Amino acid sequence: AAGAAGLALGATGGAMAHSALAGPAGGAATGAAGSLASLGSTQVAFHGDHQSGITTPLQAKGHLLAFDLAPGAGRPEAAALLRRWSDTARLLMAGEVAGSADSGIALDAGPSSLTVTFGFGHSFFERTGLTARRPTALDPLPAFSADRLDERRGNGDLWVQIGANDGLVAFHALRALQKDAGTAARVRWQMNGFNRSPGATGTPMTARNLMGQVDGTGNPKPAEPDFDRRIFVPDAGPGPAEHAWMAGGSYAVVRRIRMLLDDWDRQTTAQQEQVIGRTKATGAPLTGGGETTEMALDKLGPDGKPVIASNAHARISAPEQNGGAAMLRRPFSFHDGIDADGAPDAGLLFICWQADPLRGFVPVQRKLDRGDALSAFIRHESSGLYAVPPGPRAGEYVGQRLLE
Ligand code: HEM
Repeated sequence: AAGAAGLALGATGGAMAHSALAGPAGGAATGAAGSLASLGSTQVAFHGDHQSGITTPLQAKGHLLAFDLAPGAGRPEAAALLRRWSDTARLLMAGEVAGSADSGIALDAGPSSLTVTFGFGHSFFERTGLTARRPTALDPLPAFSADRLDERRGNGDLWVQIGANDGLVAFHALRALQKDAGTAARVRWQMNGFNRSPGATGTPMTARNLMGQVDGTGNPKPAEPDFDRRIFVPDAGPGPAEHAWMAGGSYAVVRRIRMLLDDWDRQTTAQQEQVIGRTKATGAPLTGGGETTEMALDKLGPDGKPVIASNAHARISAPEQNGGAAMLRRPFSFHDGIDADGAPDAGLLFICWQADPLRGFVPVQRKLDRGDALSAFIRHESSGLYAVPPGPRAGEYVGQRLLE
């Protein structure tokens, strides 16, 4: 695929770049702005129609955090916190320091494509007395038969996604945002992830996951006419006026999906390819062509069976098999060490974006739950659903249209 500067979301070219302003960061307080490689100096816009970290090309490092408001903290405390968080995110994304108490962890780095994305969980609205303005799209996800969910690592009042192409820049943002939370909110859970570093492959291509598959090919592309409608809440949606604060926002489904890598690695490459319906080396459909060639789902092999098996993951999850249900998958891989039995605690921090989870994640996961060949090799261990408000206008903080 012609990926965006090699950081593909399974995407074709330039349209991705609109949220990542290439080039030296204006005002980067690096002291060495001129000498920063393009990786360090690349800056993503904080203001805009949508928050950063949704269509931004995948970054090499990610931190996901959920916070719960402290007992006694309500709407005013939440509003003040989102204001502090927005100030910090704006500064750090520009490569500047986070005020006089800055830890200095990222002093000599540029913005390194840092993005910070904020979302609200279902419980946030009770805590802040805002249930009348809670969109129905935020109703809890249905249970799926294969769920093995740890509630302590799921949901939460507030969600923060941090991404950057440098590990210190990402950790610096995490520290600053955690300090900003002060006594208003405490961390409920945290997860760390990674992707391939920009520049690590000569051929720009879609990312690989820890099963070795090319992952992200089928993603909707920003250049497609229905991309915005599928991923972002429409401006003048049919919903009630009290939900208008979400116009331009998106819903994030976050699942920690463990990969049973020992079982997976025991399969031959041919067996692994049957599970997905695509080749491992290039991600091309088993029915031929290159990565971006459409799957020929009706094509039969010499044995009279479909070449892309009826339970192949890419067949079951394809929008044309799900009434057009589509989502933008933008994950990080994770590895949290080795279990006592020697199995790696590793997998995918699956994050998908859609205008409405009932027309994105839910119908697809329902179908996968009933007969996806991949399900023997994965385990959903935690789940979160968040309303991610639109991007802030100049002078605005994230979520202001809900909280002011
Ligand atoms: C496609 C892997 C979980 C939805 C794919 C592909 C791979 C893959 C390799 C084919 C290439 C591509 O189009 O990206 C995985 C792995 C998972 C996982 C390793 C878990 C660890 C999920 C879940 C969902 C999902 C939970 C949603 C409920 C999709 C969709 C496509 C896809 C929508 C694109 C289908 C198309 O447009 O043809 N996945 N997936 N996947 N997957 Fe997954």
